[in-house]
Amino acid sequence: MRHYSIALIPGDGIGVDVIREGKKVLDAVCELDGGVSLDYESFEWSCEYYAKHGKMMPDNGLEILKNFDSIYLGAVGYPGVPDHVSLWGLLLPIRRSFQQYINIRPVKLLRGLKSPLAERTREDLDFIVIRENNEGEYSSIGGRMYEGTDQDMAIQNSVFTRQGVEKVLRYAYRLAQEKSKRKRLTAATKSNGINHTMPFWDEYVQKINKEYPEIETSTVHIDALCAYFVSKPDTFDVVVASNLFGDILTDLGAAIVGGMGIAPSANINPEKNYPSMFEPVHGSAPDIAGKGIANPVAAIWCASMMLEHLGEARLAEAVMQAVEDVLEEGKVVTPDLGGKATTEEMGDLICERLKIHAR
Ligand code: NAI
Ligand code: MG
Repeated sequence: MRHYSIALIPGDGIGVDVIREGKKVLDAVCELDGGVSLDYESFEWSCEYYAKHGKMMPDNGLEILKNFDSIYLGAVGYPGVPDHVSLWGLLLPIRRSFQQYINIRPVKLLRGLKSPLAERTREDLDFIVIRENNEGEYSSIGGRMYEGTDQDMAIQNSVFTRQGVEKVLRYAYRLAQEKSKRKRLTAATKSNGINHTMPFWDEYVQKINKEYPEIETSTVHIDALCAYFVSKPDTFDVVVASNLFGDILTDLGAAIVGGMGIAPSANINPEKNYPSMFEPVHGSAPDIAGKGIANPVAAIWCASMMLEHLGEARLAEAVMQAVEDVLEEGKVVTPDLGGKATTEEMGDLICERLKIHAR
C-alpha cells in the first residue's frame, strides 16, 4: 500500500463545497484501486478563522504544513476581509516558503465541453500555461507615503532574478520537450513598455532556448498574446509567463475552455523538497456561495493533478476519464454549464463513473 498525507484547506465560500467533492472522488478512486491510501488532516484556515483570530493561519501554520506530501486547497477570500490580507496571509506565504515557483495551468477543452470560440475543437484547444509563481510583479517591495493627503502615493516594484527566471524557463522548456505535441514555446513579454524587467526576461528566454534548440520559440507581447488566445489558440503548446501576466492569461485561458468552474492549477515545488499545492483557479465565488451549485470539476481536476504529482498517473487519468464521461453525458452538470445539478450530485456521478475507469 502506498500512503500519502494530504493537508486539506477548504477555505472560504465555495472552496468548502468543491473540496468536499474532490476528497470524495479521491477516496473513491483510491478505494477502487486498492493500492493507495490517503491520510488527510483538515485545517479551517480562512476568512472566518481571521475574524476569530486576527490572522489567516496560526503562526506555526507553515511549520505544520511542511510535513505533508501535498496541500489541497479550495479558495480563500471573502467580503469583509480585504483580498490582499487573505492572499498575503495564507496563499502567498505557502507558495513562497515552499518554493512552489511553478504554477501549472492547463488550457484544455475536456471531452463533452464546448468552447465559446465558435467551431474550436479539442484538437485546437490543448496547451499549458506555466506561470512564474514566486516573484515578478507580485513581490512585496514598495510602500505607501503621504496617505490621506493630496500627495498620497504608492510604489510597487517588480523583482526578476536570474535564478527565478532561469528556473521557470527551464521547467517550461523541459515540458515542451518531454510532453508537448508541437515542440513549441511561447514566452509572454512586454519589453516595449516595461523596459528593464521584460528585456531581462527576454534575454534569458534567448539563453535557455540555446539549451533546447529543437523547441521553436517565440516571444509575444502580452496584449497581442491575449488576442491570440482568442484568434489562434491552436498555435500554442507551452506558454510561459511572469507572475502577473500568467495570472491574467489563465483567466482568459479558463474562459475559452468552459469557464472558471473548470480551470485547475498546481503550485509545484519541482524538487519535492516541500509539499506542492493544488487549487482551482477560481475564488470563493461569494455570489453563489452557500447555494450548493458550484461546479466541482476545477477542484476535481486539481485532485487528478495532485495524484499525478504524487506519482499515481494511472489514478489521475481515471479521474479525468470519469469527469469527461459526466461532462459528455451532459445530464448531471451544474448551472454554469447549463444544467440543474448540485455540486454534490455532480461529484456523486463522477464517483459512479470511476467504477468503469479505476479498476
Ligand atoms: P471567483 O472566481 O470567486 O468568481 C468569479 C465568477 O466565476 C463568479 O461569478 C463565480 O460565481 C464564478 N465561479 C467561480 N468558480 C465557480 C465554480 N466552481 N462554479 C461555478 N461558477 C464559478 O472570483 P472573484 O469573484 O473575483 O473573487 C471572489 C473572492 O475569491 C475574492 O475574495 C478573491 O480574492 C478570492 N479569490 C481567491 C482565489 C484563490 O483562493 N486562489 C482566486 C481568485 C479569487
Ligand atoms: Mg487569478
